Amino acid sequence: MAKCVFITRRLPEGLIEPLREWAEVKMWPEERTPVPSDVLVEAAKEADAMLTLITDRIDEAVLSSGERLRLIANMAVGYNNIDVALAKTKGVLITHTPDVLTETTADLAFALILAAARRLPAASKALYEGRWGPWSPFDYVGRDVYGSTLGIWGMGRIGKAVASRARGFAMNILYHNRRRLDPQEEARYGATYVDFKTLFSTSDVVLVLVPYDASLHHAVDRNVLQSMKKDSILVVASRGGLVDEKALYDVLTSGHLYAAGLDVFEQEPLPLDHPLLQLEQVVLTPHIGSATIQTRMAMGARAVHNIIQFLKGTSPQDLIPELRLP
Ligand code: GLV
Repeated sequence: MAKCVFITRRLPEGLIEPLREWAEVKMWPEERTPVPSDVLVEAAKEADAMLTLITDRIDEAVLSSGERLRLIANMAVGYNNIDVALAKTKGVLITHTPDVLTETTADLAFALILAAARRLPAASKALYEGRWGPWSPFDYVGRDVYGSTLGIWGMGRIGKAVASRARGFAMNILYHNRRRLDPQEEARYGATYVDFKTLFSTSDVVLVLVPYDASLHHAVDRNVLQSMKKDSILVVASRGGLVDEKALYDVLTSGHLYAAGLDVFEQEPLPLDHPLLQLEQVVLTPHIGSATIQTRMAMGARAVHNIIQFLKGTSPQDLIPELRLP
């Protein structure tokens, strides 16, 4: 029987064309609207593999319906949209798209650091609204990034790529990670390992890059935020849910934190009545870490490549770490 691949969003034909040699390809036809969950459950019934996005919840309903389903190829580096434990018990492989988005996401994380420290949105808004008065010594002043201390929570590929950029800004680099880097790597990135508490309490800019899992829900809570240095900056570029956004709002409005930059949120799209939208000292972007045309095409191609390897009967190159042999 011919294999069937279901793609959960309309992708360019040039990207998916290589799949057609190996399988019948079905695709949700919308580019900007996620596939409804009932359609996803139905599609899972006849799919051997699915190419999914972070907007698709691959849960019990999908995995139980997918009797033939053996591969979920997520077009993202993160995969907290997938019930990994259940997929494992059902023998469903999961791949993601690491590497290809590292530099692009590091660029965005660094852009958020710069934009938050220099309060670019507020200054730009003032100009657009005709509030740009005569040049004055203390109008639109921000804080220096150059030479300040950057604390990176999550020193994986993207963390290291940010550290490389930070060295060009003469930053003192601290990091905290589940696994400590070896001394050569620490030297290469000029990064010093510290515990979680020290990272937050001594950095001028804290950058959150860890993947989300339920055990880390609101790991950056009110206490952690209050322990941060006065006038420091928080930037988040991995996943929502790691930071208590209500507490962040309070700690920003109390004047303790200087600014924040967030690309990811607990609820996406961000509801228009979200309190953080009222603050001039925040920079908010709509989950665009990997959003360059080159990188999104590379992510799509990598997901397709993983599916083709699976259809050929070989092990896909980007199995998620939980599924790799030790
Ligand atoms: C995007 O958020 C990704 O995980 O690739």
